[in-house]
Amino acid sequence: MSLLEADLKYIWHPAQQMKDAEVFPPVVIDHGKGCYLYDIDGKEYIDIISSWWCNLLGHCNDEINAAIKDQLDKLEHVIFANFSHRPAIELCQELLPLLPEGLKHFNFTDNGSSSVECALKMAFQYQYQSGHPERQRFMCLSESYHGETIGALSVGSMDLYARIYKPMMMNNIHFDGLDCYRCPYGRTRETCDCECFVGAEKAFAAYGKETAALIVEPILQGAAGMRIYPPEYLRRLRRLCDDYGVLLIDDEVAAGFGRTGKMFAIEHAGVSPDILCTSKGLTGGYLPMSLTITTEAIYQAFYDDFKTHKAFVHSHTYAGNPLACRAALAVLHIMKRDDILKKAAEKSIYLHEKLDAALGSHSHVGEIRHIGLINAIELVEDKKSKRAFDPEKRIGWHIFRKAMDLGLVLRPIGDVIYFNPPLTIDEPTMDEAVRRCRDAVHAVLGND
Ligand SMILES: Cc1ncc(COP(=O)(O)O)c(C=O)c1O
Repeated sequence: MSLLEADLKYIWHPAQQMKDAEVFPPVVIDHGKGCYLYDIDGKEYIDIISSWWCNLLGHCNDEINAAIKDQLDKLEHVIFANFSHRPAIELCQELLPLLPEGLKHFNFTDNGSSSVECALKMAFQYQYQSGHPERQRFMCLSESYHGETIGALSVGSMDLYARIYKPMMMNNIHFDGLDCYRCPYGRTRETCDCECFVGAEKAFAAYGKETAALIVEPILQGAAGMRIYPPEYLRRLRRLCDDYGVLLIDDEVAAGFGRTGKMFAIEHAGVSPDILCTSKGLTGGYLPMSLTITTEAIYQAFYDDFKTHKAFVHSHTYAGNPLACRAALAVLHIMKRDDILKKAAEKSIYLHEKLDAALGSHSHVGEIRHIGLINAIELVEDKKSKRAFDPEKRIGWHIFRKAMDLGLVLRPIGDVIYFNPPLTIDEPTMDEAVRRCRDAVHAVLGND
C-alpha cells in the first residue's frame, strides 16, 4: 500500500469533505525549509498561507530546531500544577514588555480554541466572584470565528462551522458586525465613520447588564475571509465594555505575532483588553501552545484563602510544555534580534504592490484588502455590484487546485484567496508566489 493509499484508508482530515480526495487527494509532505514545502516526490510548494497562519519564521528554522533539541535532552514535559520550569518563566518575562498595557498573568493552554475556552471561563468566574453572578452570557460579532470546541464555537457566528451544533451551544448574543467591502452604509474605507457600530450599541443596550464579556478578533476577522476593519471600531468597543462593566477578550490567535504589522493587532487601536488569547505564531507554528493572559484585577478576584474556593480550576495536561516554551523563546529572540516586524513592514508594501499589479484590475477581483503581509483577494462574479459567485461553483477551491499544480499552497476561504506568508519571506519568493497565484486565477477565471 502506498503512503497515499494508507492515508486515504485511515486518516480523517480536518475541515474538508473527504470524498473530495477522490479528485484532489492530500499532498503528502516530506520536508520543509523556509517558505517552501516539498512532497514525497520532491515537488516544491510555496507555503503562502503559513500552514493555517501559524508558521511565523519559516519551516525548519535552524535556531528554533536547535532550541527544541537542546530542551529535549533536559526536560520534555512536566506537570504544570504545583510545578514550574525555566522556559515557561523566561517566556513570561520576555513577553511581558511586548504585551498591551496591564496584562501580566499567564495561563498556559495548548491550542487557540482552548485559550478561548479558558478566557470565557475566566471571565464568567471573574464576574461571579466580583458580585455579578447575573452576568452569564457572552457577546460576539457576526461572522466571528474563535475556534471549534463547543464553547469557542458558541461565540463564533459562522454558520459554516456552527449550524449543525446549535442545539449544543450556549445562549450568546451575536450582533451585526462589519463588512467593509460590502458596507451597508455605502461607505468606503476612507469615508467610514463606523456607522455600523450601531449594532454593538443596540446589543449592549439590550443585553449589556447580563453579559460577562465580549470576545473579538482584533482588526482582522480571519476565517470570515480576512475582513479588515477600522481601529476606531475596536476603540468604541472598548469604551462600550467599560461603560457596561463587560470584559473585553482580545482573540489574537490569528492576528497576533506581527501578522497585521504590530506585535498584537489591538495595538492598532491603542487600547488594552482585559484578557488576551494568543497561539499559532507564539511557537513559530512549531508546537501546539497557547496563552490566556490577563490583568492584576482579574487575577486578584481568584486569589484568596483555599477555603473560599475561588481558585481557577482549569487545566490541560500539556499546559506549559517546556519544548513549546523553548520554541516560543527562540521565536521572540529571533524577532527582536532580526528586527522582523520592521522588515516585514517593508516587505508588506512590496507584496501588495506586486499583487495589485498582477490581479488588481482583473474583472473578477472585487478588492485586494491588505494589512501587514496579509493580502486577501475577494473574487466576485460581478465587480460593479460586488455580486458573489454561486458558492456551488467552488471558484476558490478550483483556484486552489490549480495553484497546487503550479506549486503554491493557496487554500481559500470560500471565494477569498489570500496570502498570509511567514514574516521572513523574501522578494524572489514573493515574486514567484504572485506569478503562480496570477496564473492559477487566469486558468480558472480567464486573463482579464
Ligand atoms: C481568531 C481565532 N481564534 C481561535 C482559533 C482556534 O485556534 P485552534 O485552531 O488552534 O484551535 C483560530 C484558528 O484559526 C482563530 O483564527
